[in-house]
Amino acid sequence: MGGRTLCLLLLSAVFAYADNSAPTIANDFVFTFFNAYIDSEASDVQLVAKVSNNNNGTANVVVTSPFPSFNTIRVSVAPYSILKIPITPESIEAQFPGNQTNHGRIVVEDKGIRLQSDLSVAVYAHAELANRQSADSFLVLPAVHLGTQYVAVTATSTSIDTEYPNMIAVVAYQDSTQVTIGNQTVTLNALQVASVATMDVLSGTVISGNKPFGAISGSTCGIVASTCGYEAVMLLPVGGWGTQFVAIPFVDLSTNYYQVVANTNNTVVSAGSTIITTLNAGEYREFQIGTALVTSNFPVQLIQTGQNTGNHYNFVGAPFFLQLPSTDKMSNTGVLFQPPGNFGDEGGVLLSYILRIVTNLAGAGTIQIDGTTTGALHYKHVPNSDFYYYESITSSTTHSVTTNNPGTKYSVITYTYYSYYGSGFNCAFDLPIENFAATTTAKPTIQL
Ligand SMILES: *[C@@H]1O[C@H](CO)[C@@H](O)[C@H](O)[C@H]1NC(C)=O
Ligand SMILES: *[C@@H]1O[C@H](CO)[C@@H](O)[C@H](O)[C@H]1NC(C)=O
Ligand SMILES: *[C@@H]1O[C@H](CO)[C@@H](O)[C@H](O)[C@H]1NC(C)=O
Ligand SMILES: *[C@@H]1O[C@H](CO)[C@@H](O)[C@H](O)[C@H]1NC(C)=O
Repeated sequence: MGGRTLCLLLLSAVFAYADNSAPTIANDFVFTFFNAYIDSEASDVQLVAKVSNNNNGTANVVVTSPFPSFNTIRVSVAPYSILKIPITPESIEAQFPGNQTNHGRIVVEDKGIRLQSDLSVAVYAHAELANRQSADSFLVLPAVHLGTQYVAVTATSTSIDTEYPNMIAVVAYQDSTQVTIGNQTVTLNALQVASVATMDVLSGTVISGNKPFGAISGSTCGIVASTCGYEAVMLLPVGGWGTQFVAIPFVDLSTNYYQVVANTNNTVVSAGSTIITTLNAGEYREFQIGTALVTSNFPVQLIQTGQNTGNHYNFVGAPFFLQLPSTDKMSNTGVLFQPPGNFGDEGGVLLSYILRIVTNLAGAGTIQIDGTTTGALHYKHVPNSDFYYYESITSSTTHSVTTNNPGTKYSVITYTYYSYYGSGFNCAFDLPIENFAATTTAKPTIQL
């Protein structure tokens, strides 16, 4: 493209929100991928950054990385549309085939990815095997929401095959960021990635730093209910955790697995009126429940895990990680999304795409999906709560969720099933602004 120069206006909405929270749509993001699957026989891994432009204007996006063979990407995202940006080369994954280090010691690499846009956008990272044997997506937290303390969640059971370790990967936003993962400390420059891979369970590992950074954790192929799949989630900083969550089993399941981690001693976690566990800081618990309101006396991070639903197609679904936003983080910001599934329905393969909306009492009957209001009677009540949810099979195309009702708050989740395949992410919700350095970033220049 020509030599046109656009100035990115990184005017943050920070002062517009009296409670210091903002939706997870923004202008500046850093993230990384860790390996989706290490398998000498597996097909290629495709990595994509999905940019959702829910504005009546073109978003100009630039993607950079210090990874040696990475070429800067400059693209435009049309108004009210989603663009899948392929991230290459595949070896930018933190641990890649033929070079695996699962000894649990920190490896530092130049594998961070930065995505900037002149208009506020939502960004979802997705990794998928070309043979559709494994996939997962995560919402990329904007740089303004990055914190300095996280607690990892990984699989509690890994394959006996040492090619499928649990992983933590952190990405620095600024130079001279000192990060401690468990009992190891490193100093990173901006967009350097520190990762650990081990067959041990890393759930509960505390990750802290002296400057805000991003953290992704999960498993290259974690086992849940005897099926393994790629599990990846961009962790919420502890300042973004909550004490009340709506837990709903994925479609075709009556109960579902979850993992909860704590950052305060004597954290009591309950589902309805039943106490599930009491955790100390840095402890985790895996549990299985049906539809319930999950509450705690101190903030926790709650991850829902996909699993094989064993339904009539047999082996439909596989493990994946879904970060559940706490109910106080629900938003009324319009959402534009496509369900996960990079290869879609090509080759006559039909994936199952699902949409879930969780809302408050004011929300049932006041939310538009693709411009049409879904009646209140279509919502189900979450027992012992003031919350309702709507879940529906949908298509792989672009969808919108909006409301005009000031009292409505919702969270929107989408996930996709196929044989041995499960992948899901959260659309938009509100989070506290923690990274004030990112609210005053110098305006970068995009060459188009
Ligand atoms: C989008 O912008 C165009 C040009 O400014 C305007 O004509 C149109 O009404 C806008 N659409 C919406 C949905 O705001
Ligand atoms: C393996 O990874 C290490 C650490 O990034 C790197 O120094 C080395 O060159 C890699 N080896 C191969 C064969 O890719
Ligand atoms: C660090 O933690 C790991 C994992 O818990 C443990 O195996 C190792 O012995 C610890 N090392 C030190 C020096 O404490
Ligand atoms: C939390 O509990 C652990 C284990 O009992 C203890 O070692 C630690 O000192 C406690 N932390 C605080 C802040 O009380």
